[in-house]
Amino acid sequence: PPVTPFSVPLPVPPTLAPTSTTADTDFYEITSRTAAEEILPGFSTEIHGYGGSYIGPTIKAKVGRRVVVRHTNQLPHPTAVHLHGAHVPASSDGFPTDVIDTGATKTYEYPNNQPAATLWYHDHAHHHETENIYRGLHGFYLLEDPAEAALNLPSGEFDIPVLLSDANIDADGQLVFISLDEYGRTTLLTNGRPAPYFQVQARRYRFRFLNASNMRVFNLVLGRQERFTQIAGDGGLLPAPATVDKVLLSAGERAEIVIDFSRYAPGTQLVLNNTRNLNDPSRPVALPVLRFDVVARVGQDTSAVPATLRAHPPLPAATRVRDVVLSYHTAAFPFAINGMLFDPNRVDYTIRRGSTEIWRITNPVTPVAVYHNLHLHLVQFRILDRNGVPPGPAESGWKDTVFVAPGETVRIQATFTEYLGKYLYHCHVQDHAGTGMMALFETVA
Ligand code: C2O
Ligand code: CU
Repeated sequence: PPVTPFSVPLPVPPTLAPTSTTADTDFYEITSRTAAEEILPGFSTEIHGYGGSYIGPTIKAKVGRRVVVRHTNQLPHPTAVHLHGAHVPASSDGFPTDVIDTGATKTYEYPNNQPAATLWYHDHAHHHETENIYRGLHGFYLLEDPAEAALNLPSGEFDIPVLLSDANIDADGQLVFISLDEYGRTTLLTNGRPAPYFQVQARRYRFRFLNASNMRVFNLVLGRQERFTQIAGDGGLLPAPATVDKVLLSAGERAEIVIDFSRYAPGTQLVLNNTRNLNDPSRPVALPVLRFDVVARVGQDTSAVPATLRAHPPLPAATRVRDVVLSYHTAAFPFAINGMLFDPNRVDYTIRRGSTEIWRITNPVTPVAVYHNLHLHLVQFRILDRNGVPPGPAESGWKDTVFVAPGETVRIQATFTEYLGKYLYHCHVQDHAGTGMMALFETVA
């Protein structure tokens, strides 16, 4: 049903309280279940959510403190929980065939031995992940550390996670799921609401944007191309803040920005639009995502955006180069990596623990030009270059998912440390991954 934009406020997903804590560990419990939620005003929509919410509760974790989450599945189909962007043992990575059956429980352990970052947890159950995520199995996992806290970035109620998704909602307000239905999902949802508004004080805010959609690309533009500051990508803080006038996010990617609303008079309304046209990326559109309504500041704004954010060590030398070709083949054999469809029993790359590799990822131009990206489990990587050109400031930090447009070749570099086992790498367009564009590497001693 048609919805008037900016008719509902932006909800902020609640932070989950631990069920218990010890000297070094926080324990959580989450049940995946069916529930009703008012996504569109006046309609009750059935969702499948962590804790019964379209967007699951936010877990706030601290570097150096272990998190243990006991997940119970009360949905009528299997689930598997993956913590996207996290450096974790394979047994807690949510392997597609390592599922939680209906009524069952599985405990995941997260060591949190990586820098602060905006991570997210979502479903990964083989052949169910696309629909499970579409119906609501996604949530934020915010990893914090003292070095980042010392920077005095906007925090607390001025630090807002924003999950972007899209949906095909029928006349009764129900989520319609059809595989390969990206053009039917015309309702953009921002924290699970259609183009909400958000009242902001005339001061700095930090926003953590996540593209949790199946395949939509978001190119976020504020007002009439206002400038703002990007401070982080997938794997956390950039080396230095970057002044930008847009944020481009393919499926699964995150970007954190700071907007200083003190530049706008109270009463100002600023619309954040997605200008990316799903049907034709060469012809921009303006689809509203969120409206900021500026009001007077209460108290002082003591937050800051320092000129340097996080030191990025020089990259070690790589010992191996691999070619990863993401391509659309034929209607019968659609989305493949290096010409092969996903097989949970086949390992394509065996990688010695501790080694550093360069992966050269290509999206060749085929009769049907489609974008892909590549997400690696276990590691955060750095982008070396895109079509031979070094990345701009916004892509200069740690990444776990990289956009690869038709015709592009992107080189990334990763070091595979600590954990042994089988991990996934895949296109994060969920329909592509779910129909074969996924493969395994195995780290060995
Ligand atoms: Cu965000 Cu393998 O996933
Ligand atoms: Cu793809």
